[in-house]
Amino acid sequence: MPKGLPIEVRGLTKRFGDVTAVEQLSFTVQPGRVTGFLGPNGAGKTTTLRVLLGLVRPTAGTATIGGVPYAKLERPLEAVGASLDATFHPGRTARDHLKVYATAAGIAKPRIGEVLELTGIQSVADRRVGGYSLGMRQRLALAFTLLGDPGVLILDEPINGLDPEGIRWIRGFLQLLARDGRTVLVSSHLLSEVQQSVDDVVIISKGRLVRTGTLSSLELDSAPQSIVDSPDRDAAAAALTAAGLRFAPGRNGFIVDERDPAKVGAALAAAGVGVSLLHRLRSGLEDSFLQLVGESDGSANGGTPAPASEATVAHDGPAAETSAEAPPAVASEPPAESTEGKDA
Ligand SMILES: Nc1ncnc2c1ncn2[C@@H]1O[C@H](COP(=O)(O)OP(=O)(O)OP(=O)(O)O)[C@@H](O)[C@H]1O
Ligand SMILES: [Mg+2]
Repeated sequence: MPKGLPIEVRGLTKRFGDVTAVEQLSFTVQPGRVTGFLGPNGAGKTTTLRVLLGLVRPTAGTATIGGVPYAKLERPLEAVGASLDATFHPGRTARDHLKVYATAAGIAKPRIGEVLELTGIQSVADRRVGGYSLGMRQRLALAFTLLGDPGVLILDEPINGLDPEGIRWIRGFLQLLARDGRTVLVSSHLLSEVQQSVDDVVIISKGRLVRTGTLSSLELDSAPQSIVDSPDRDAAAAALTAAGLRFAPGRNGFIVDERDPAKVGAALAAAGVGVSLLHRLRSGLEDSFLQLVGESDGSANGGTPAPASEATVAHDGPAAETSAEAPPAVASEPPAESTEGKDA
């Protein structure tokens, strides 16, 4: 049974020369839940995840999985599945890619077929990855993370490039993984992209934490209004007025200045007025996310240039940054066929 382990980031700071990518960042990610790691382009998400996976040394602070740094995990592929960018050797087939990693990590062959099936790419598994669409590569990256049936999944922007069907699929899949007790950490620069699949959020901006908590707590804060409708609108308006609720007519009913729809429902029920529609207004969520991260200019795509997303491995300036002791954590480059990647 895969074991979900908590992820703990404490006082994490990472500077690249005079660029501070992450500053004094602390948060905890719990097993059994999907956590959205959110922030605009350049916020420091990938940097944090790279520190967490032992690919970059922090300037200060710690990042641990189940209480230990990634590099100290025994059989890391079976503890943590991670995907930081969906780049693969174009000349290899998906099946061959997975074979290389599985062999390096001592994972039994039948698991390859299983993860291909789980991620829905079995029909293209023997095609060269060079001809894959971005969505197919995302699925392959996910297949890689699942190889060791790990209890912890760390996925950097896994939804990027998926079509609507793929997005619906991955949302459900992430939920399923968490329901089995796994720790699932998913980054995104768009709250709306992950909103339907995350339980918790960790929101950062300019390298600093701006918010952690459940998605519902964020929804509650960001949705000060409810919407209600009734077959008898005049009676509904009278009931709302009698209850001292402020409201305005909207397209689908009355927009009420009350964050708790239950109170609005109670007001109508007390007056014996039927309710045909009642819910919290959700549209405020993305706005409040943008407010939290201090971006109302909508830098959803290509805001701050992030060098990390460019090529295969050239993530870090100084080559010395890349930790020699870390076993293959990301699907960006295949390990040499024989390395097990134990301690250097
Ligand atoms: N190797 C590096 N050398 C110099 N600066 C870097 C390096 N890696 C990241 N940075 C800088 O650190 C900041 C955080 O980048 P990071 O890639 O962590 O952001 P991100 O939240 O993942 O953004 P995106 O949503 O665009 O992927 C940015 O200003 C970026 O330019
Ligand atoms: Mg990133």
